[in-house]
Amino acid sequence: MTETITITRPDDWHLHLRDDAMLQAVLPETARHFGRAIIMPNLVPPVVTAADAAAYRDRILAALPKNAAFQPLMTLYLTDHTDPVDLAAAYADGLITAVKLYPAGATTNSAFGVTDIKHVMPVLEKMAAIGCPLCIHGEVTGADIDIFDREAVFIDTVLDPLRRALPELKIISEHITTKNGVDYVMSADQNLAATITTHHLIINRNHIFVGGIKPHYFCLPIAKREHHRLALRKAATSGDARFFLGTDSAPHTDPNKESACGCAGVFSATNTMSCLAHVFEQDGALDQLEAFTSLNGPAYYGVAPNRDTLTLVKSTTPVDYPTSIETRDGPVTVFDPGYPLHWRVV
Ligand code: NCD
Ligand code: ZN
Repeated sequence: MTETITITRPDDWHLHLRDDAMLQAVLPETARHFGRAIIMPNLVPPVVTAADAAAYRDRILAALPKNAAFQPLMTLYLTDHTDPVDLAAAYADGLITAVKLYPAGATTNSAFGVTDIKHVMPVLEKMAAIGCPLCIHGEVTGADIDIFDREAVFIDTVLDPLRRALPELKIISEHITTKNGVDYVMSADQNLAATITTHHLIINRNHIFVGGIKPHYFCLPIAKREHHRLALRKAATSGDARFFLGTDSAPHTDPNKESACGCAGVFSATNTMSCLAHVFEQDGALDQLEAFTSLNGPAYYGVAPNRDTLTLVKSTTPVDYPTSIETRDGPVTVFDPGYPLHWRVV
């Protein structure tokens, strides 16, 4: 017996597409299944002005496969020197959908990020006034804070004070990895939502280290203990409108991952929908898949869901997806959930 599920076409509310050869190679992997994606601005150099965002959007559109209906939703990379007038004009024009806050030094290509939230309060006040959402990489960066505690400490020392100071600011706590993150979002009745990645629903920190170090499971925020993963699963599959998909699919070439100082990032664009159908079925929540991937995100961002659909079919033979994709810069390994997948996008 074949099982089939048809859902509103999904969106990815947190995606890294990079540029040039990498962009060419990874864009079709997302455009095949997703209607829209929030495009991360952490290029080198970062996308900081409206002009940067317009030029990057045009490079993405030029790299799209023929007939692809995919729409990139652009973001600006917030720095200590962001011009609120430029930002507001870009938002009013529909050129950008959100602004991204990276604490300086938190992750890949974040050196130009915000050094202290105090420096950007005038910009954040402007964003609150015009309704522009803020996407936050929620980790503190101090060398004295354990890497597994960085998200929880950020919530207490940065996110909560920021929300108290500026309750009108619409915030997306991105790629949450802890029960603390889930609980904090559930305690908020307005202007706070969270994205959850595919891989954080599947791996815990053991997957990175047990039996030898697995660089392709290294990403930031780093995967946490099992009870945190279970809290993420519960939140994602609950249907709660405050949680939605942001894959954080973040390609790096194998030499850059499999190195003495390997880059952070998991590339999951290729098999994300098969992984998610598996996860939701395992938790008896296939009926909530559509809310997580296709409805909650648009509702929070105040846009209509996609009008077309995506169908997945379950078969006994495992889905045959590539374990890596070729780019002109080198191979990029596709996320391995550690088990065969049976839900195939048709
Ligand atoms: C991202 C990247 O490679 O750009 N890496 C990651 O581990 N998630 C940056 C980010 O989103 O933190
Ligand atoms: Zn990311």
